[in-house]
Amino acid sequence: MPGRKGSGSMDKIIVENLSITYSDGVESLFDINLRIPIHQITALIGPSGGGKSTFLRVLNRLNDLADVAKTTGKVLIDGIDILDPTLDVIALRRKVGIVFSRPLPLPLSIYQNVSYGLELMGEKRKMVLDDAVERSLRLAELWDEVKERIHDPANSISGGQQQRLCLARTLSLQPEIIMLDEPTSALDPVSTAKIETSLIELKKDFTVIIAPHNTQQAGRIADHVAFFLQGKLIEFSSAEDIFTRPKDVKTQDYISGKFG
Ligand SMILES: Nc1ncnc2c1ncn2[C@@H]1O[C@H](COP(=O)(O)OP(=O)(O)OP(=O)(O)O)[C@@H](O)[C@H]1O
Ligand SMILES: [Mg+2]
Repeated sequence: MPGRKGSGSMDKIIVENLSITYSDGVESLFDINLRIPIHQITALIGPSGGGKSTFLRVLNRLNDLADVAKTTGKVLIDGIDILDPTLDVIALRRKVGIVFSRPLPLPLSIYQNVSYGLELMGEKRKMVLDDAVERSLRLAELWDEVKERIHDPANSISGGQQQRLCLARTLSLQPEIIMLDEPTSALDPVSTAKIETSLIELKKDFTVIIAPHNTQQAGRIADHVAFFLQGKLIEFSSAEDIFTRPKDVKTQDYISGKFG
């Protein structure tokens, strides 16, 4: 779709000159500049160690917990500098949710896994919690499979269902941005397809950023693709451009499977 890029789309996230060095001296991101559009799926692709997870962890300040020695540059979400040391990190993490590659449900029921975050925030009204649980499970394409056994332990469902439960848990807090770091790498094809369907539906209301399981997954669901190689952003473009007419020969080589 020529002209889609930048044509009237709004940027949810603006990253300027972002560099990150871990305390062991590993420079894992180098002078990254990109703009992530609202209500689209942006995929981060590239070989292992390229900086995809590090980049995701910047966006909700999870790197605060890691061994990061130095972060320079700017990351604006809705115009607010999220690297500001005085920022309310809890509020940021509510707004920018993350799903990791291994499903890690809490040792509670299916229902409680989804209601937990809201309850922590003080929500006690059963009707509000019931609604939030059903809505989140529907959005995560899991409701129909668990509605008859919503009070069973979360570890009684399959790994693929558990991963959708983790997505529902993230959604229950009504974030604006949903990040997923290889969310389907441990899943069967059916659960993988359900997660992909869910993400395509979710982008209507959320901004989705995914480090996909492989480039094929980016091809199936992404609107925009960022190609990271050894800490550098080599190319950022519409998915169509990246897959059909990449500008950089390194992108071309990666897409065509010459290295990976
Ligand atoms: N906690 C950490 N401490 C030190 N170095 C780290 C840490 N986390 C990541 N790195 C380094 O930062 C670089 C980028 O790693 P990152 O995990 O972001 O890559 P990735 O693109 O997500 O890779 P993969 O595809 O394997 O998940 C690598 O060189 C890695 O060794
Ligand atoms: Mg990673």
